[in-house]
Amino acid sequence: MLDDPCKTPPPIGSADRSPSPPPWAAGRSWEAYIVPQRWESFSGEDHEVWDLLFARQVELLGSRVVSPFLDGIDLLRLSHPGVPELAELNVILEPRTGWRTVAVPGLVPDEVFFAMLADRVFPVGNFIRTREQLDYLEAPDCFHDLFGHIPMLAHHDYAEMARHVGELGVAAIAAGEGQRAARLYWHSVEFALCREHEELKILGAGLASSFGESHFSLESDEVERLPFSVGRAVNTPYRHDAFQPRYLVSHSLEQTIAEVLALTGERLLAL
Ligand SMILES: [Fe+2]
Repeated sequence: MLDDPCKTPPPIGSADRSPSPPPWAAGRSWEAYIVPQRWESFSGEDHEVWDLLFARQVELLGSRVVSPFLDGIDLLRLSHPGVPELAELNVILEPRTGWRTVAVPGLVPDEVFFAMLADRVFPVGNFIRTREQLDYLEAPDCFHDLFGHIPMLAHHDYAEMARHVGELGVAAIAAGEGQRAARLYWHSVEFALCREHEELKILGAGLASSFGESHFSLESDEVERLPFSVGRAVNTPYRHDAFQPRYLVSHSLEQTIAEVLALTGERLLAL
């Protein structure tokens, strides 16, 4: 998205491109952006960094995140030591909600990212931060993408919402209004909060995977927390280079999903 750390200029023509992309990717507009994961290329140190990040974040989150997120971690066996192997992950994820993960070298352009979501494909940065950079990320790595995003994609209704956000993004970009979809994505997928049994919880992947911002978003007295609506999401700016100055809070996960699913491309442009 425009300023979203989840996407960037890419790697067309990269030497690491797969000579034979999987058959289900053939002919898709995003096919040229995917690379083989080459899981065996992750070093022992890479796997140790994953384990360190995973253990630290699970302990930090405790029950501060919506319960389907924790269910997703279990269902997808993300607690298995080491960087997850995407092919193994897809074996569980795809039959469940139709979503697949693919490796990408780094950020992909907005239109590619949204087109992937519309096809139920989630791009995963094919690298992991170093031990020296545990809390600083220039671009989303596989810990952010896999730990932050994938657990919720095992939840049927959320998975459908994420696909719909992709379709809305494709339509908005085609209409020259990509920033509207970027803001919707940001406030519903990356940095959303919601209530669960009256308690304030983390919903967004950017918060769930962040050591610093997860507690900050829930506990800081210095930020605004405003009621979520798609109209507010589409029109609320965000920061991509600092903690958010405001978070949108829905009544429930179900409210977020229902409102986003009810949004049409036409209405997105009119809000
Ligand atoms: Fe993300």
